[in-house]
Amino acid sequence: MIKHLQDTFTLNNGVEMPGFGLGVYKVEDGSVAEEAVRTALENGYRSIDTASFYDNEKGVGEGIKNSGIPRDDVFLTSKVWNDEQGYTSTKQAFQRSIDKLGTDYLDLYLIHWPVKDTFVETWKAMEELYREGKVRAIGVSNFHVQHLEKLFANAEIIPAVNQVEFHPHLTQEGLRAFCHQHNIQLEAWSPLKRGQLLEEDIIQTIAKKYGKSAAQVILRWDIQHDVITIPKSITKERIIANADIFDFSLTDEEMNQIDAMNQNDRSGSNPDSFD
Ligand SMILES: NC(=O)c1ccc[n+]([C@@H]2O[C@H](COP(=O)([O-])OP(=O)(O)OC[C@H]3O[C@@H](n4cnc5c(N)ncnc54)[C@H](OP(=O)(O)O)[C@@H]3O)[C@@H](O)[C@H]2O)c1
Repeated sequence: MIKHLQDTFTLNNGVEMPGFGLGVYKVEDGSVAEEAVRTALENGYRSIDTASFYDNEKGVGEGIKNSGIPRDDVFLTSKVWNDEQGYTSTKQAFQRSIDKLGTDYLDLYLIHWPVKDTFVETWKAMEELYREGKVRAIGVSNFHVQHLEKLFANAEIIPAVNQVEFHPHLTQEGLRAFCHQHNIQLEAWSPLKRGQLLEEDIIQTIAKKYGKSAAQVILRWDIQHDVITIPKSITKERIIANADIFDFSLTDEEMNQIDAMNQNDRSGSNPDSFD
């Protein structure tokens, strides 16, 4: 389990990835994205999660540059979007992303969703980008066991990361065990279920006990499960507070109580029925 904000997990290719980062889905490009990213980095974050689909890579890149934190000290993730998938178009999409971000490499490049007919070809392009040294690690997002098995049958490189929806209403036990078994690091998207979990009684009771917020309790639960978490916020106070989770620990009983909140309930699409 990580003990500090900048602590890392060692991915299956030896690359170190911070266990905590800032997500920027639905963050407006330009000054809003620039400020959120800069604020996070100025306050100790070292990992930023964007995607071509978020349409804010330019602002994210400016935030990194203006933070004064050297590029090599920031772990930068982007993703290839569904209509960019396929061998040639993935390579073109990658180039567009790094151009907008103002960098010449990514730390992690993910297939955003398992688009049925194209994800195998997409992965071939990702493997080449990795071998060429343009990305330090490659991974997937929203891949269920069946998608991973299809990928394994066609891949030379096992994904380093699988980024999936994960929160107390969607604890992903089967997928977590499968990824663990195959040395694929799980990463949580919508860890706060986009704010929908903050009034839950169990979370509120635990939060009161520790003098922490509901968001901090949920993010701490991620960390204690060894799941990388990337809460999104554009609010300075929340960006700072969300990362202030390394001074308390949930007991086993509290972890179990939160686990038991699972409803297999998604806030986003289901990758099994997604096309
Ligand atoms: N791979 C994928 O398919 C996928 C899908 C979805 C998301 N993601 C990634 O995961 C990241 C996080 O997921 P998300 O943005 O969907 O949702 P989230 O992080 O679960 O929730 C973000 C929402 O919670 C609010 N919030 C943040 N901290 C809070 C706090 N301490 N107290 C109260 N409210 C708080 C934010 O508001 P303010 O911003 O107004 O403060 C925002 O409305 C994304 O930004 C993206 O990077 C990936």
